Amino acid sequence: MRSFAASAAVLATVALSVLAPRASAQQVTQQDDDPVSIVGTWSSGSGGVTTGLGFFNPGNNSFTLPKTSGQSYSFTQDGFWEQALYLFSPTATDPKCKQAQLIWQHGTFRQNGNGSLTLTPFEGDGRQLIQSGCTHTTESIVAYDQPEYMQGFNIRLDMHYGSGAYYLQMFEFDGTPKPWLWQTYNPPQMLPTQQLHKKIIGSLNG
Ligand SMILES: *[C@@H]1O[C@H](CO)[C@@H](O)[C@H](O)[C@H]1NC(C)=O
Ligand SMILES: *[C@@H]1O[C@H](CO)[C@@H](O)[C@H](O)[C@H]1NC(C)=O
Repeated sequence: MRSFAASAAVLATVALSVLAPRASAQQVTQQDDDPVSIVGTWSSGSGGVTTGLGFFNPGNNSFTLPKTSGQSYSFTQDGFWEQALYLFSPTATDPKCKQAQLIWQHGTFRQNGNGSLTLTPFEGDGRQLIQSGCTHTTESIVAYDQPEYMQGFNIRLDMHYGSGAYYLQMFEFDGTPKPWLWQTYNPPQMLPTQQLHKKIIGSLNG
């Protein structure tokens, strides 16, 4: 496993201590047609990408590159979420060159009355790393702040590597299905569910 440290401070951050107020969140309910609630850690494929300290370390602002690409989402009973994404996309200049993108975010989520999910990141905490596949050049770790909206989701039981397991199927804002995410941990494996950094760029001149 390789680790990438952030270069010079891309985004000035200052750690918030326990003084940070805990964000308000709401109770999660289980959908009528789902066998279990959304609480837990869910990961695509063989579970090589998982939320938590093994993917992103906010202490030294570093990603640990998983062995395979994949996606992971975690949800808590009291309304917090975290995501870990390791995605590949072909670059425009050379289709043979795949660009790797690592994304980590966390925050609060709301399960809306119509079955949709609204995922709101803690501002200033999310990080993204982009790596060019041709040159294996690692670019800087930069801030990433992208709310997500899921039209809906289902949880079902299916066979996974020879035994029964629950999977979470979410549908993006436009209905595009996300990959099946298998439940790998319950209770979820997550970093602390509170804002870890405070963005100070902008407020310095303000
Ligand atoms: C970040 O800290 C972790 C835990 O101490 C360590 O394992 C990892 O190697 C560090 N990464 C870098 C890039 O310094
Ligand atoms: C579902 O509820 C969310 C939150 O209230 C809202 O933003 C969204 O437009 C609703 N979707 C539909 C199809 O009504």
